[in-house]
Amino acid sequence: MKQYWWQSVVVYQVYPRSFKDSNGDGIGDIQGIIGKLDYLQKLGIGAIWLSPVYQSPNEDNGYDISDYQAVMAEFGTMADLDQLIAEAKQRGIRIIMDLVVNHTSDEHAWFVEARRSKNNPYRDYYVWADPAKDGGVPNGLQSTFSGSAWQYDQTSQQYYLHLFSQKQPDLNWQNKEMRQAVYNMMNFWIDKGIGGFRLDVIDLIGKQPEQEITGNGPKLHQYLQEMNQQTFGHHDLITVGETWGATPEIAKLYSNPESHELSMVFQFEHVGLDEQPGKAKWDLQPLKIGALKRVFAKWQTELDDQGWNSLFWNNHDLPRIISRWGDDGQYRVASGKMLAILLHLLKGTPYIYQGEEIGMTNRIVHDISEVTDIESLRMYDERIKAGYPKATIIESINVKGRDNARTPMQWNQTTNAGFTTGKPWLAVNPNYETINVEAALADPDSLFYTYQKLIELRKNNPIVIWGSFELLTTAEMIFAYKRCYQGETWLVVNNFSNQAQIIDLPDVKIEQVLIQNGHESITSLANYHLSPWQSFAVKVAN
Ligand code: GLC
Ligand code: CA
Repeated sequence: MKQYWWQSVVVYQVYPRSFKDSNGDGIGDIQGIIGKLDYLQKLGIGAIWLSPVYQSPNEDNGYDISDYQAVMAEFGTMADLDQLIAEAKQRGIRIIMDLVVNHTSDEHAWFVEARRSKNNPYRDYYVWADPAKDGGVPNGLQSTFSGSAWQYDQTSQQYYLHLFSQKQPDLNWQNKEMRQAVYNMMNFWIDKGIGGFRLDVIDLIGKQPEQEITGNGPKLHQYLQEMNQQTFGHHDLITVGETWGATPEIAKLYSNPESHELSMVFQFEHVGLDEQPGKAKWDLQPLKIGALKRVFAKWQTELDDQGWNSLFWNNHDLPRIISRWGDDGQYRVASGKMLAILLHLLKGTPYIYQGEEIGMTNRIVHDISEVTDIESLRMYDERIKAGYPKATIIESINVKGRDNARTPMQWNQTTNAGFTTGKPWLAVNPNYETINVEAALADPDSLFYTYQKLIELRKNNPIVIWGSFELLTTAEMIFAYKRCYQGETWLVVNNFSNQAQIIDLPDVKIEQVLIQNGHESITSLANYHLSPWQSFAVKVAN
C-alpha cells in the first residue's frame, strides 16, 4: 500500500467555542487557538481538526452554516483564520476544516431563496415534498434531534426535510448545480492551504427520502468519487468521513485508496456498546469489555490493507472517556493513561479531543436549566412528555450528553480555568483547580506526557503505523494485543478494570518496556499480577 502523511500523525480536535477566549466575551475564538499553538506543538500533533468556524446562527454550535466562505464573527475574521493556517504550518501542524454539507442553516442564502417559491432556481437545492393525503407529514422520517424530520413551509405549502433541527434543512445531493457549488466552495478552502476536511454526517448525502432511506443511500459512493475528483483528489490532503452506519465492508469502500473517496472514516461501533440494542443512546447499559475487544479486533483485522482506521474515544458529541469507561475518581490518571496506551498503539490514525490529554471528565448537572445542547434539550422535552421520570433523563444527560465534552478547556487554576476573563458561555467543570494544563505540564508523571510519548513512539517506530494486529487470549477484563512488523514484536497489555488481574504468558521474553502507566520493572509475564488499570507496552524477543 502507498504511504501517506496522515497515516503517521496524530490529529487533535479543537472545539473553538470552548478552547480559549482571547477577548473576554466568554466565547473561545481563533486568536485563542493561535495563542495555544506552541502548547499543541509540544504535545506533538500533526494536524488540528477544527470544528466549524463558519458564519452560523448557532442553532447547533456552528453545524448549521449560513455562509461557508465567511468566519463566525464571534470567532474572529478571515484574516485570523488565514493567520491560524499559516502559524500552524510553521509548527508542522495542518488545519483540517469541518465540512458540513449534508445540510445548511435555514439562514443560508440558498435556503432563503429556495423557500421563496416552488420555481425559485434554488428550490431544488433542498428536499421538498407535498403533504400526505391527510395533510400531515409526507412520511415517518425522524429527526436526530427528536420529532418528525419534516417541517411545513407555509409559503409553498410543502414540507422540507431536516434530519437534524428544523433550522438545518437537508441539501439535495441529487441536484447537480448544488453539488458543483459545494465543490467550488471546497476548492476555495483548499486554495487557502488547509490540510484537509472532516466530513460531517457524510453517509447521509445519498439519501432517498421518498423511500425513507437516509444512511448509505444508493448514490453515496458515486457522489464521494465525484467530490474527490473535483476537489481534494488532486491534492495531498486528509479526508475523514463521519459515518455512523459504517461496517468494515462499507469502510473499505470509503477508504480503499483505489476507490478514490476518502482517507478514512470515523466508525462508531464501539461507541454504541453501552446503550441498549435497538434503542437510543440515552438508554444506558453497562459496557462489556469482551464486546469492546471483539469490536476493536474486528476493525483492526478486517480493514487490513484495503482501508484505514481512525482511532478515537472522544469528540465534541461524546462524553469524556475517563468518566465513561475509565474511572474518574481514585484511578483517573491511571485509567486515562491505560485508555491512551490501548488506543494509540493500535493501527490507524489516532484523534485526541481537546482536554483528553489532561484527563478532563464529565460535568454533572442537577437540572435541565444547566444544559445548553440542543440534542439533550429536545430529548428532555420529548421524554418528559412521554412520562419518563426527570431523574432518569438527567442521569442519561450526565452520562451521555454532549455538553460533557464542551465545557471550557481547563488551562490553569485561576478563575474560569484560565479559559476566559469574562463569563464562560458554558460553565467550567468545578474540578479545574486540580485538572488543568498548567498542573499537567508541571508534573512529569501526568497524562499529558503519556500522550506526548505515545505520539513520539508512533513517529519513531514504523511498527506502530504498519504492524499487524492480533488480539491475545486473556482474562475477560484484560485487553492485550500483539503488533508485529519486520521481525519486531510488541505486546500491549491493559487491565480494563478497577480490580487486580493476572496475565499468564510464560514464553515471552521481554527486551524493553516501551511505555507504561506506572513505574514497574516488568521482566516476565508468567503469572504476572496487574494492578487496577495497569497498562504497558513491551518489546519482546522473537
Ligand atoms: C455531526 C456533528 C454534530 C452535529 C450533527 C449535525 O454528528 O458531529 O455535532 O450536531 O452532525 O450537523
Ligand atoms: Ca472570544
